[in-house]
Amino acid sequence: MRVFVTGGTGLIGSAVVAELLGNGHTVLGLARSESSATALQTAGAKAIRGDLADLGAVRAGAADVDGVIHLAFANDFSSPAAVAAAVAEEGGALAALGEELTGSGRPLITVSGTPYVPGRLSTEADPLPTEGPVGGRSRSVTAVLDLASHGVRSAAVRLPRTVHNEGRGGFAGLLTQLARRTGVSGYPGDGTQRWPAVHALDAAVLFRLVLENAPAGTAWHAVSDEGDAVRDIAAVIGRKLGLPVEAIPQESFGPLGPIFATDQPSSSAHTRKTLGWEPSHPSLLADLENIQP
Ligand SMILES: NC(=O)c1ccc[n+]([C@@H]2O[C@H](COP(=O)([O-])OP(=O)(O)OC[C@H]3O[C@@H](n4cnc5c(N)ncnc54)[C@H](OP(=O)(O)O)[C@@H]3O)[C@@H](O)[C@H]2O)c1
Repeated sequence: MRVFVTGGTGLIGSAVVAELLGNGHTVLGLARSESSATALQTAGAKAIRGDLADLGAVRAGAADVDGVIHLAFANDFSSPAAVAAAVAEEGGALAALGEELTGSGRPLITVSGTPYVPGRLSTEADPLPTEGPVGGRSRSVTAVLDLASHGVRSAAVRLPRTVHNEGRGGFAGLLTQLARRTGVSGYPGDGTQRWPAVHALDAAVLFRLVLENAPAGTAWHAVSDEGDAVRDIAAVIGRKLGLPVEAIPQESFGPLGPIFATDQPSSSAHTRKTLGWEPSHPSLLADLENIQP
């Protein structure tokens, strides 16, 4: 397939681009800078210049391909306003992609987070939370899945809190950055809350399988570790950086504080059984051993 990919230079997107190219697909990537365009070309993809707010470029990218994988997101959690702007920008781009693909039967794969359900592992059948700082992202994803009834083979890959590679990425990556800045490897609450995780190279395989095989309107879980206790994550980070490991106030984590404090283990049993996806790369705690002081 010829595939248009947004976010193809990111931690997850670069793995997805490599996975697609390694399995007979061709890739056109959205590039918002010259260096991103060069990175895509070096990987073996073509690039179209523009960003998510440039709806002309977004539409042009989707116009002449067999499918779309959307991964770009500003990932600016510095303030509620920054998060809201990123959510709105992504929502506009997804709406444009959906319009471009309506009636074509082509796949539109977007990204989402795993939901949380008190007291048990969340599953692919659970709805996404529409409250909280990134609730707007869930509404965008739901709108994409609803395009199934308008001739789009839409699907969502729900990612766990940490998608990692070489010890970097996701919520665990944010804990590492905060530890480097403050001199303390901190965690909110009592640290027994669990976050799910997956290696980016395993997540990339699932994006390809969903692109190739998923029926319209379906959601899938890229979950490898069902739940790592946040205290255990902070302990590895503290040991690798030579820093003390301590509980710190939830507010230290900015707009994401309440999400950081939530116990949110998740399952991928349905995804593994239905699509034959089997993660094979290191767990989060093993991968965090790659952190350099
Ligand atoms: N990593 C995780 O643990 C995790 C967990 C759950 C969900 N997710 C979601 O998965 C997706 C990919 O995450 P990631 O970790 O790979 O992110 P990342 O490493 O920060 O990469 C973000 C990608 O999006 C591009 N991008 C950002 N803003 C853009 C804009 N305005 N216009 C065009 N391109 C833009 C970046 O391009 P440049 O090369 O120009 O910077 C880069 O390719 C995001 O939607 C993220 O929220 C990630």
